[in-house]
Amino acid sequence: MGTEATEIRGIGHSVRRKEDDRLIRGKGNFIEDVKLPGMLHMAILRSPFAHATIKGIDTSRAGALPGVVAVVTGELMAQHNLAWMPTLSYDTQAVLVTDKVRFQGQEVAAVIAEDPYVARDALELIDVDYEPIEPLVTPQRALEADAPVIRTDKEDQKDNHIYHWENGDKEATDQAFAKADVVVSLDTHYPRSHPAPVETCGCVADVDPATGQATIYMTSQAPHAIRTVFAMVAGLPEENIRIVSPDIGGGFGNKVPVYPGYVVATAASLLLGRPVKWIEDRTENLISTGFARDFHMHGEMALAKDGTMKGLRVSLLADEGAFHADAQPSKFKVGLFHIVTGSYDLPAAHVSADGAYTNKAPGGVAYRCSFRVTEASYMIERLVQNAAYELGIDPADLRRKNFIDKDQFPYKSVTGFEYDSGDYHAAMDLALEKVGYEALRKEQVEARKEGRLLGIGLASFTEVVGAGPHKDYDILGLKMNDGAELRIHPTGKAILKISSKTQGQGHETTFAQIVASELGIQPEDVKVQHGDTDNTPYGLGTYASRSTPTVGAATALVSRKIRDKAVKLAAHLLEVSEDDVEFEAGRFSVKGAPDKVTTIQDVALAAYTNFPDGMEAGLEGVTYYDPPNLTFPFGTYAVVVEVDEETGVWKVDRVVAVDDCGVRINPMIVEGQIHGGLCEGYGIAAMEQITFDEDGNCIGANFTDYLLPTSWETPRFELGETVTPSPHHPIGAKGVGESATVGSPAAYVNAVIDALWHLGVRNIDMPLTSAKVWEAMQQAKAGATA
Ligand code: CDP
Repeated sequence: MGTEATEIRGIGHSVRRKEDDRLIRGKGNFIEDVKLPGMLHMAILRSPFAHATIKGIDTSRAGALPGVVAVVTGELMAQHNLAWMPTLSYDTQAVLVTDKVRFQGQEVAAVIAEDPYVARDALELIDVDYEPIEPLVTPQRALEADAPVIRTDKEDQKDNHIYHWENGDKEATDQAFAKADVVVSLDTHYPRSHPAPVETCGCVADVDPATGQATIYMTSQAPHAIRTVFAMVAGLPEENIRIVSPDIGGGFGNKVPVYPGYVVATAASLLLGRPVKWIEDRTENLISTGFARDFHMHGEMALAKDGTMKGLRVSLLADEGAFHADAQPSKFKVGLFHIVTGSYDLPAAHVSADGAYTNKAPGGVAYRCSFRVTEASYMIERLVQNAAYELGIDPADLRRKNFIDKDQFPYKSVTGFEYDSGDYHAAMDLALEKVGYEALRKEQVEARKEGRLLGIGLASFTEVVGAGPHKDYDILGLKMNDGAELRIHPTGKAILKISSKTQGQGHETTFAQIVASELGIQPEDVKVQHGDTDNTPYGLGTYASRSTPTVGAATALVSRKIRDKAVKLAAHLLEVSEDDVEFEAGRFSVKGAPDKVTTIQDVALAAYTNFPDGMEAGLEGVTYYDPPNLTFPFGTYAVVVEVDEETGVWKVDRVVAVDDCGVRINPMIVEGQIHGGLCEGYGIAAMEQITFDEDGNCIGANFTDYLLPTSWETPRFELGETVTPSPHHPIGAKGVGESATVGSPAAYVNAVIDALWHLGVRNIDMPLTSAKVWEAMQQAKAGATA
C-alpha cells in the first residue's frame, strides 16, 4: 500500500453529504416505504370535541365493513393494561380513551383493515356518544377555581395545576430590585407552534406470533429509549424488541415522544399476528403530536441608571395541554429555561414556573433548540431591548456593557449553570460590523425624516446543549449518555455504529469526519450505521442539539482507543518501540526516521493477519460518553426591517447571523442547520401559530391555516462565524445545529418594535401579522393624541 501523505477530509472540511446521493435519487427508505408481507393498515378515530365524556362507543357498523379486520377501543386496550401509558414527564397519557376526551384530535378508537382506505372509511361508521364539557383553552382559565378538572383520571388531582418550580435566589433578587434605579417589565406569550416535519409520524409494527419477536419500524428520534419504555410498559422482554428508525423526514423534537398510534399498532400486531402499519396525515400530525413553546411569561429587569443589570425576575405559566408530556431532563420541570439570564453577567435572578393542564394536545418538545431554551432567549432579549429603549442607551451598547466578559469563563450563572467558554463581545462586534450598524443607525434617522419606518433589531443568545452529565440529567431515570462503536475492517475501511439517529442533520457525514480526523481514514471509507437498536450501542437519542456533543465525543474517544492499539501494531510492523511511533493523518512514522512509515490501512490488515504474540486480534471498540458539563454555543443576530405605515406590512431587508459553535466539523452542514434555524425564527416571528377557538377547535390544523415560510418570502441570510472551542470537549465542538435559531424571533420582533418605537409601540407579540402591527400603530397614535 502507498505511504504518500494525502489530505484527510476530516473536521473542518465541507465534505458533501454522503447520504444525499441516495436521498436525491429517491432511494430513501422512509416508513411509507416499509412494506411487509401480510401487512394490515390502521387508521385512528379522533375526537371532534376538546372536552367531552364518552357515554358509549358502538363499533358494530365499522366492524361489519368488508376488509375490516378489527376495531380497537380503549376498553380492549384496558384489558391488556395498555389504555394508558407514561409520558416523558412522569405523567400518564391516554392511549385510547376510556373515560373522556381531553383535546380535539385525541385518539378514540382504531380500525385495522386490509387496505388503508377501508380503514379510513370505517372510521366514519364508529358511533361515539359524546357529552361535551366546558373546554379550557387558556391556562389562566384552567387555573380558576370553578374550572372543570381535566385530569379526573388522577385521584390526587383536584385542579388543573401541574407543577410549581423555582430556580435562583429569590431574596437576593428582591433586594436587587429594591435598590434598582430602573425596572422594566414585559408580559409576553411565546405562541404554541409545531415542528411540522415534512414526513409525519408513523410505524410498522411486526410482532412474530411464533417467536414473540417485535420489530417496530418507527419514526423515532430516540429508538433505544423507546425500546426500554416499550419493554417496561408492555411487559415484553427487551431482547425481543427491535426498534428500527429508517430514514426520517425531519424530526425537530416532534418524533421524540411515544404516540398512541405506535402503541395501538404494536398491540394490534401482537393480537392479530400480522404486521400493522399506521401513518398520520398532516392534520393528525398538527393537532395531536408534540407541539412546541406556549409559554406565557412575565419578566422584570432591574438596572442602574448607567445601564448595569442588577437583577432578573421571570415568572411563567406553561400551557402543557391535557397530559404533561414535556421532553425534558426529569430534574428540570421547565427544561433548561433557567438559562434565561442569557449572555449577561446578572448578579441576581429568580425564575418561577407553573404548569397547567388545558384541553389541547400535549407536547412541549425541544423544537430547534435545547429544552425550552428558545423561550428563555426570547424573554431575556426582549427585556434587554426594552431596557435599552427606556434608558435611552443604544441596544448594542447596553448588551456590550453587561455581557459576561471572555475572561470570566468558566462562568457560574446565578441559576446554576457553569458556562464553559464564550466571547460574546466578539460575536456582537462581528455582527455589527457585517450589518454596518453605525451607518444603519444614521440611515434610520434619515429614513424617519422621510416618513419611512426603518427598524434595527438585535438579539444575542447563549444556548445550553449536549445534555448531559449523569449526575444531573436523565429522562425517566435513564441517564443521558450515548455510545459509539467503531470497527476497522482488514482493508482499512470502517463501520461506525452510533446511538443517535439522524433525521436529516447529516450525521452519516459528520461522524465519519470525526473518525477521519482521529484515524486518518477518509470519510467515504467510514460507513455510519444508526437507528437500529439491535445493531447500535445504547443512547438516549437525537434532539435538543445533543448528538454531536455526546455521540460525536463518544466517536472521537472510541477512535482514540483504537488508535492506541494501532500504535502498538504499527510499532510491531516497523520493528520499533511504541514510544518511537508518531501518528499523523493516517500515517505512523518512526521518530527521527520519517521515511520509515506505515499506514492505518497496513495496520488494520495486521490486526487480523500479523499481530504480535499476546495481543488480541481485531481493531474495534465501543465507548459511552458521559459529558462532564453541557456546552454553551452563542451568537448575535441583527435584523433590518422596514414597516409600511399605511398597512403594517413589514419587509425584511437584512438578516445577519453570527454563530459560535466552536470548531465546525462540517462548515457546509452547519450553515445549512443555521439557515434552517433562521428560517424557523422568521416563520414564528411572522406567521406560524397554532391557536384554538373558544370551543377548543384547533386553528392551524393544516398548512393553509398553519403558515410555514416558503422560499418566496424567506429573507436571505448573511452568516458570520466566531470560533471559541469548549475547553472540556473532546472534539472541540460545541454542538450547534438547529439551536442556532434561538435569537432570531426576538431579533425580528425587536426590529419591528425598533421601527415603531417613536410612534409609541412598546410591545407586540408574535406572530407579527401586518394587521397586528397596524393595530399597534393605531393604538400608539391614539394614545399619543389622547
Ligand atoms: O442533535 P441535533 O441534531 O439537534 O444537533 P447535532 O447533531 O449536534 O448538530 C447538527 C449537525 O451539525 C450535525 O450533523 C453535526 O455533526 C453538525 N455540527 C458540526 O458539523 N459542527 C459542530 N461544531 C456542531 C454540529
